[in-house]
Amino acid sequence: MSTNLAGFHTSNPVFTASGCAAAGQELAAFFDVSAIGGMVTKSVTLQPRSGRPTPRMAETPSGMLNSIGLQGPGIDAFLEHDLPWLAARGARAVVSIAGSSVEDYVALARKVRGQPGLAMLEVNISCPNVADRGTVFACDPRAAARVIRAVREQAHPGVPIFAKLSPDVTDIVAVASAVVAAGADGVSMINTLLGLVIDTDTLRPALAGITGGLSGPAIRPVAVRCVWQVHQAMPEVPILGMGGIRTGLDALEFVLAG
Ligand SMILES: Cc1cc2nc3c(=O)[nH]c(=O)nc-3n(C[C@H](O)[C@H](O)[C@H](O)COP(=O)(O)O)c2cc1C
Repeated sequence: MSTNLAGFHTSNPVFTASGCAAAGQELAAFFDVSAIGGMVTKSVTLQPRSGRPTPRMAETPSGMLNSIGLQGPGIDAFLEHDLPWLAARGARAVVSIAGSSVEDYVALARKVRGQPGLAMLEVNISCPNVADRGTVFACDPRAAARVIRAVREQAHPGVPIFAKLSPDVTDIVAVASAVVAAGADGVSMINTLLGLVIDTDTLRPALAGITGGLSGPAIRPVAVRCVWQVHQAMPEVPILGMGGIRTGLDALEFVLAG
């Protein structure tokens, strides 16, 4: 089951999905975090963020909607506490970075460069671009490419960069091709799908932030389809697949798709 993701060798193909286990401390109570292929951290931003107002989770049929809003301690605290914690345990840290401008991503990539324990960078581009009236980078191939090119220039050449793609696009292959041409070593798919739940008792949105990201088994066919389409178009590009995986057989669907 060993695997190679753009030069990053690991004996275990199972990784965490960003945002589902912070920086691993919670998981350490249940298993050795160095035993999995990679610990993908919650996307870290330049500044600390308290996230969006509550409620920010809602149940849906076969899934859930969240609008956490990238709550986190910011890159400086992350580098002081979280990454050293992972490195001390021999975990392979895949650091996920998120920003609202190309400059944010550049600053983040500079800060993580050369940090001990960093195995890979995952660039979460499912974030609104403040310079383009909030258009999500991952929904515009050119904006997505600009972020990846800028991160590639700053990151250590030996550290693979994976672009985390959004399924909320008409043509996922166009975005994947653009980020690979811009220097991404691989792609992670998929991030959540934008959704909205309305509480029919209160007649209001269930989330304070109104919309949120849909995850869980409901999205698995969409994720498998995205992996398949990108693999068909670019069979040489490594793909980190996620979206509704609960069992080994679910994961096998992703392996078979690409
Ligand atoms: C509560 C929550 C927080 C998340 N935070 C992030 C994040 O910080 N960065 C990111 O790239 N994806 C984030 N995601 C998306 C997941 O990494 C994953 O792409 C998505 O949930 C689909 O996988 P799943 O159905 O197995 O959860 C988050 C998902 C959830 C449910």
